[in-house]
Amino acid sequence: MQHMNSVSILVMNGPNLSRLGKREPEVYGKRTLDDINRGLAESFPDVSFEFFQSEDEGALLEKLFHCEDHGGYRGVVLNAGALTHYSIALRDAISAVSIPVIEVHLSNIYAREEFRRTSVISEVCQGVISGFGPNSYHLGVRGLLVMLEES
Ligand code: DQA
Repeated sequence: MQHMNSVSILVMNGPNLSRLGKREPEVYGKRTLDDINRGLAESFPDVSFEFFQSEDEGALLEKLFHCEDHGGYRGVVLNAGALTHYSIALRDAISAVSIPVIEVHLSNIYAREEFRRTSVISEVCQGVISGFGPNSYHLGVRGLLVMLEES
């Protein structure tokens, strides 16, 4: 829902996150991405959200650039999925924009397989939240709002 003078935030999800609810529920939980997005909209009625998911790295980069150039967005909450661990293109895109990006993960990537313990995007994100399930997104939005208030 649009609110006058509300803060606009993009919540962006990368590959395989469209499968939440069905995908490895023992790791990622039973809630779908729609459930999570609905929960965010309900919890933060004063925020104007856009939700975007793509399986495609290029589409995520283009969305980020669109937000930077046209959107009026104040920040991005990003779960980049597996791209987190290897996408230098995504890292460079985050570096290239001035809007703050908060990295979030449902699972605690530091308590999982070795290859997940490296994030190539953390260094260029404003903050990282990992391991709180769907609440990682809530904490990401909350952190972003606090950061914006203080800036
Ligand atoms: C994830 C963790 C990644 O390692 C994985 O590739 C995902 C989801 C998470 O939210 O816990 O797709 O980003």
